[in-house]
Amino acid sequence: MTLNLTERAPFARGGNRLCFVDPADRRRCIKVRRPDFTLADRRRKKGFPGNLRPLSWFDDNREEHRVLTVLWRRHGALLGAHLPRCHGFVDTDLGPGLITELIRDADGAISQTLKKVLWDQGLTPSCSRAVGVLGRFWIEQGIPSRDLLPHNIVAQRGADGGLRRLVVIDGLGRAGLAGTRGSRAAARRKVGNLHQRIEDLLALRGAGPSPGAFPGYHGLLFHDDAPERP
Ligand SMILES: Nc1ncnc2c1ncn2[C@@H]1O[C@H](COP(=O)(O)OP(=O)(O)OP(=O)(O)O)[C@@H](O)[C@H]1O
Ligand SMILES: [Mg+2]
Repeated sequence: MTLNLTERAPFARGGNRLCFVDPADRRRCIKVRRPDFTLADRRRKKGFPGNLRPLSWFDDNREEHRVLTVLWRRHGALLGAHLPRCHGFVDTDLGPGLITELIRDADGAISQTLKKVLWDQGLTPSCSRAVGVLGRFWIEQGIPSRDLLPHNIVAQRGADGGLRRLVVIDGLGRAGLAGTRGSRAAARRKVGNLHQRIEDLLALRGAGPSPGAFPGYHGLLFHDDAPERP
């Protein structure tokens, strides 16, 4: 049976995908390709010679599924601290939907991205600690990833409102699924870059208590102040 998503409102949108709460299970999220930016559009935008690659190469859902499956097999339960569980695909009217764990705060709200948290509050001691914990985990386990971006990491809050953990919800894989040694060095580079990105964002935000307008829409949920709905 095909799940009807067209009628529903997504809770977030990235550059490539729309994210919906799974109507069958509020603890799960379904990601589909953006209908206004198809795989063919993405390939076209790439230019020569990247545009010679097969369409599947541009498919984040396919890649995320592949990488999460390998990683959960390789690392087991400890992965759950910083990566979502993956529950395979569901057929939807917006194409194949990847089902993953939806990260929610202790109060039930969908967790905000690290980008939003940094923008709203700056680098608080608990946030700084959480970034350190994630970075050590990434390097120790040699997790293969593309760039670690603050809008692809969500910050889960505990019952006291403090940050509980950071979960990487996008940007996994592509290279490095095979090795361990090399992948540690690669992971170290990615973590270094993340620290740099955090500093850049904080510099853009300025030192004051009330930051200006949030830069871009990446990392905003639709119930915040994201611009026009798709
Ligand atoms: N499992 C999840 N739990 C909570 N929020 C999530 C989850 N997955 C995605 N989100 C939210 O949805 C937004 C968009 O999702 P995602 O990053 O997967 O889309 P994308 O189009 O692949 O992104 P990109 O523009 O980086 O390619 C995220 O920035 C985040 O706010
Ligand atoms: Mg993303």
